[in-house]
Amino acid sequence: MPKRRDILAIVLIVLPWTLLITVWHQSTIAPLLAVHKDDGGDSRRDLAQGSDSKEYCLSDRDIVEVVRTEYVYTRPPPWSDTLPTIHVITPTYSRPVQKAELTRLANTLLHVPNLHWILVEDSQRRTPLVTRLLRDTGLNYTHLNVETPRNYKLRGDMRDPRIPRGTMQRNLALRWLRETFNKNSSQPGIVYFADDDNTYSLELFEEMRTTRKVSVWPVAFVGGLRYESPKVNAAGKVYGWKTVFDPHRPFAIDMAGFAVNLRLILQRSQAYFKLRGVKGGYQESSLLRELVTLNDLEPKAANCTKILVWHTRTEKPVLVNEGKKGFTDPNVEI
Ligand SMILES: *[C@@H]1O[C@H](CO)[C@@H](O)[C@H](O)[C@H]1NC(C)=O
Ligand SMILES: *[C@@H]1O[C@H](CO)[C@@H](O)[C@H](O)[C@H]1NC(C)=O
Ligand SMILES: *[C@@H]1O[C@H](CO)[C@@H](O)[C@H](O)[C@H]1NC(C)=O
Repeated sequence: MPKRRDILAIVLIVLPWTLLITVWHQSTIAPLLAVHKDDGGDSRRDLAQGSDSKEYCLSDRDIVEVVRTEYVYTRPPPWSDTLPTIHVITPTYSRPVQKAELTRLANTLLHVPNLHWILVEDSQRRTPLVTRLLRDTGLNYTHLNVETPRNYKLRGDMRDPRIPRGTMQRNLALRWLRETFNKNSSQPGIVYFADDDNTYSLELFEEMRTTRKVSVWPVAFVGGLRYESPKVNAAGKVYGWKTVFDPHRPFAIDMAGFAVNLRLILQRSQAYFKLRGVKGGYQESSLLRELVTLNDLEPKAANCTKILVWHTRTEKPVLVNEGKKGFTDPNVEI
């Protein structure tokens, strides 16, 4: 028989511990019950009543914390004060696939930090479809419009009576930039012409962000080739063009194959795409020759060995045997 004194001692030792454990126990279960009140799950109650509930509660508390962690994801990424802004100029026109193409492009642009989308409609007025689409994307954008005159003809000049699609729209965007940003402004920026029917890798935007004057890179599925590319020598300088179609153009490059520093656009305020008398494929040259010489070009995309942009709506099939002609490197992944 234990003595009364011993029993009293045991009670005095056990009682505070019991109280302590009870209080601790309740404080761990309480938030659990609060969070899962409307779960309707019976499992919680079982756990709380279980003999080894302490163990479960511990692991459950960890899970509760995970559940409560807020997953912060914003689209587009937060604006940065240090990154140069990329002004993406996109001419667009009404057609059955327009909304699909613009949605696809917007979904790409939403991943790019500090991006300003200048969308220019070829229309008499800004359409409700594009207005709504732009507003709903959450992108930083400017919505402009100018209609290309039909059957535009200049007396005496019969070479090319039509204004190429997108030219007036791109020029309007250039004018908007020059009217919006002061020529002397130190606002760092890059200008890129991104048509709505191409596919753009996210890496491309980070490559072009460091453009000092004009940067260049290959474009896949143009001119009947797997890809067209600037030729880069061992010193990392552009010295020509890998293209089948008229390689003697001053800048034999696709609209999607170059980006220009905003400062250069603002300084050379007379530089626009030529509206008339421009042969097919010479649009790009008509602007670039006003801005730079071949020697100024900065090759990007690992010295023009990586494909980061694709023409995805090709009219002509890619030449099957072009590899034999040695125009493009068959080892380049496209
Ligand atoms: C839009 O761009 C301006 C700078 O041009 C910037 O201050 C602003 O935070 C941007 N807004 C959004 C929603 O990204
Ligand atoms: C830009 O700076 C030059 C001198 O540095 C000045 O003459 C000119 O007025 C300035 N232009 C604008 C638009 O502020
Ligand atoms: C491009 O080529 C130049 C000259 O060969 C070299 O110095 C440079 O590191 C290359 N750049 C890349 C990104 O491969």
